[in-house]
Amino acid sequence: MDQSDVAGDLASILLTEEQLGSQLDEIAAQIDADYAGKDLLLVGVLKGAVMVMADLARRLHHPVQMDWMAVSSYGSGTKSSGVVRILKDLDSDLTGRNVLIVEDIIDSGLTLSWLVSNLRSRGPASVEIATMLRKPDAAKVDVDVKYVGFDIPNEFVVGYGLDYAEKYRNLPFVGTLAPHVYS
Ligand code: XMP
Ligand code: MG
Repeated sequence: MDQSDVAGDLASILLTEEQLGSQLDEIAAQIDADYAGKDLLLVGVLKGAVMVMADLARRLHHPVQMDWMAVSSYGSGTKSSGVVRILKDLDSDLTGRNVLIVEDIIDSGLTLSWLVSNLRSRGPASVEIATMLRKPDAAKVDVDVKYVGFDIPNEFVVGYGLDYAEKYRNLPFVGTLAPHVYS
């Protein structure tokens, strides 16, 4: 996609490629330190976490394994309900593993809270969360997020894995959509 093709759809650029990258440098260094000498399985949540997973994983010096899950959250419109269905489950057995869930964004936190308890029930040594973006409502739910890239305002954002109607995922930055796109 030529970025000029979507420029008219964007209201602003919230986070540049450089800002995302330097924050990931820091998170990767923390993860390297925290998991030194330990096994680590990164679990990416499809599809949004593809970019952050790829950019985070390649910054780690720590040897990791990567697995993927796809979930769909039942709910009306853009709000998630916390009722979650697994569309694609992990290939890995989590018994005794240190699991780090890699997310693009936490909004209500309902999906993630369901995911954490689902993964904890599989006998892992630990389950932690890394997210590139976090919205203010995430504070209302009791999920402990170990690594956060950026706390962002309560606006709908696209790019860097995040979509609106499956578009904009491949933008290398995070932006807000112009109102004419969804009206
Ligand atoms: P929760 O359960 O935390 O759900 O409310 C998080 C999921 O909601 C989607 N989401 C967004 N997607 N721009 C997007 O493209 C946004 O601003 C946004 N806010 C939430 C996303 O699928 C995320 O995994
Ligand atoms: Mg997601």
